Amino acid sequence: AQRDKIESLLAEMTLEEKIGQMNQESPSIVGGFEVPFGELIEMVTDGRLSNAEFKKIMSTAQQDCHEDEIRTGGVGSLMVQDPAKTNELQKIAVEESRLGIPLLFGLDVIHGYRTVYPIALAEACTFDPALMKKTARMAARESHSGGVAWHFAPMVDIARDARWGRVSEGPGEDPCLASAFARAKIEGLQEPEQADDPYVAACLKHYVGYGACEGGRDYNTVNMAMSLFYSVYLQPFQAAVRSGAQTAMAAFNDLNGVPCTVNKFLLRDVLKDTLGLPGFVVSDANAIKECVSHGIAADDRDAGVQAACAGLDMDMGTNIYKNHLKEAVESGQVPMEVIDDAVRRILSVKMWLGLFDNPYLTEEEMHRFDTLPQEHLALAREAGEKSIVLLKNEGNVLPLSPEKKIALVGSLADDREEVVGAWALSWRKEDCVSIRAGMEKAFPNLQYFPCGGPEGDMNADEIQRAGAYGDVVVAVLGETKAMSGEASSRADVTLPGKQRELLEKLLGFGKPVVLVLMNGRPLALEWEDRHVPAIVEAWHLGVQMGHAVANVLSGKAMPEGKLSASFPAMTGQCPVYYNHPSTGRPASKSKFTSKYLDAPLDSLYPFGHGLSYTSFALSDLQVNDAGEALDIRVKVENTGDRAGVETVQFYMQDVAASIVRPVKELKGFVKVRLAPGEKTKAAFSLPKQDMGFFDDQWKYRLENGVFRIFAGSSSRECISEEVAVCFS
Ligand code: BGC
Repeated sequence: AQRDKIESLLAEMTLEEKIGQMNQESPSIVGGFEVPFGELIEMVTDGRLSNAEFKKIMSTAQQDCHEDEIRTGGVGSLMVQDPAKTNELQKIAVEESRLGIPLLFGLDVIHGYRTVYPIALAEACTFDPALMKKTARMAARESHSGGVAWHFAPMVDIARDARWGRVSEGPGEDPCLASAFARAKIEGLQEPEQADDPYVAACLKHYVGYGACEGGRDYNTVNMAMSLFYSVYLQPFQAAVRSGAQTAMAAFNDLNGVPCTVNKFLLRDVLKDTLGLPGFVVSDANAIKECVSHGIAADDRDAGVQAACAGLDMDMGTNIYKNHLKEAVESGQVPMEVIDDAVRRILSVKMWLGLFDNPYLTEEEMHRFDTLPQEHLALAREAGEKSIVLLKNEGNVLPLSPEKKIALVGSLADDREEVVGAWALSWRKEDCVSIRAGMEKAFPNLQYFPCGGPEGDMNADEIQRAGAYGDVVVAVLGETKAMSGEASSRADVTLPGKQRELLEKLLGFGKPVVLVLMNGRPLALEWEDRHVPAIVEAWHLGVQMGHAVANVLSGKAMPEGKLSASFPAMTGQCPVYYNHPSTGRPASKSKFTSKYLDAPLDSLYPFGHGLSYTSFALSDLQVNDAGEALDIRVKVENTGDRAGVETVQFYMQDVAASIVRPVKELKGFVKVRLAPGEKTKAAFSLPKQDMGFFDDQWKYRLENGVFRIFAGSSSRECISEEVAVCFS
């Protein structure tokens, strides 16, 4: 029936109306302030205007929501998030346009809507797909009530270079973990739990390879062997499409010379025809036009023709389809089938969402989350606690008993807006809990001394007073939310500004110092690791950050996060990732090996690393061939004096293969909760089908031979066994 409805609509549509469906608009800012909009943006960029002032101006700015265009059927999708406004615009589309096709409202809902959860890089550290699914479910319910039916998420770009600001938005460096994340997010966003539970369409991004931008510089070129592309970068997209992901966004970058926006091979052959994406592909913002700057298109029209023919179905923000496609179809440059295919796909997503039957939000839906349910905040707190990674805890400085006199230092600690991290658009300040607020509740003898932050100077007076107060110093340092995310690559990933000097001064008082990090990327912490006894990676954890941090520092919650990306010792090591291909000369102390003269041989904290307040020991690894799968078991013991959770990680290495393979690849993980002294067996069944890799022709190879199987508490701390495997 759905197909029939689409076909009959298609038969009725004029070419203009079809192209209208392929056009996405954002409200244009048309005035209401003194200077031109472009200059306003420049003023924010160069600091003449603060973010707060800019926000204030924008809240009263006059917007054009393209009502006339909607009326004529010229708009398929809009980026709006005001529920009353979406209803108003939807009414124009449904009741006043000739065919009454509903609009699709999309928005960046990257890590939560009103309830902001940890940034994706942090949430991946939970190694807990059930939790990842829950946060996505909550985000879908909340955004739906805000009028948003389509999330530009999940972002599943594998990212191995800490310099790239957008590592914050995705699940890190490993394809197995990223695929688990991708599946969980698709299920959470798209699958309602009961009949009246709202759902949204996911948009996988950025398709594809964006995370491999050269040098970690945003929007930069991407070059890679196709075997690496298929075996690593494509993996989470493939997993997500298998889970039913409806749509995808083409990435800004070129892959091996052809921008993804106009890459027919990637869009049509791989994503649609082979993987089977059911819905459509949208461009990234302005990306069709940028094909001219890429030097792949002569002008706007040429870019539009190439993009449409490549299978790019919807134009985000350039109006190139709207302005040029009609003529391009009439002159035969773009076949009508291309247009029809795009429109079919777009209409099918609108139907899948139920927009033809229920285009409007009811009053009840619109106000469902006016007061945030406790359940949402509790989930944000839980996700926050589980995302925290204890990097170092020498001499068991942590946990801190509640009576401790604590000097809390760092301006980030007292900033409730910074907790939401990059790409959070729909939060409210009143929901945000700063680290200071959370800590003051948990530690009655705490005093706060700002001292300084990632930007600006340090206050010597306050440093003195902080050093004089109390038993222990907790320094909250790191990055502002603007230092990661889009267009926020950094060439130096150490603590920004004068924060290291601040730490040095604090350490000079001779009291134990706990460094709590707030940041959106792996940082280079060689100096900090050498000097600071306790280091807690707390990322940007979302609206409940303060409580999550306080609970972990006090031991009310046990730290259990494991790094989703390796931390370099020094920026010059980037990209550094645990699952790198074997070289002929693995790094060692001897001279002619693959290393730097002036850096450690490996990352500082590897993928999968994360301590607890108790300790665990792994022993007795057994690997048995069970026919279709390898049956892997390892003994895990809680050797400390507290209950805790260990994430046991299972890796493999294909010892000799026809293409150089990674030194180690994560294949699965199991979380175990153990009381002090308790032992258990962690078991994992590795399907033999999953032990292969793709070659440059996308052929999956399962090659007989010896495999090394590892079980570990990180990608570095492992025990291993060798096993010969025969696939045929
Ligand atoms: C970003 C996308 C985002 C889009 C729409 C672009 O600049 O690259 O990730 O979804 O804007 O806001």
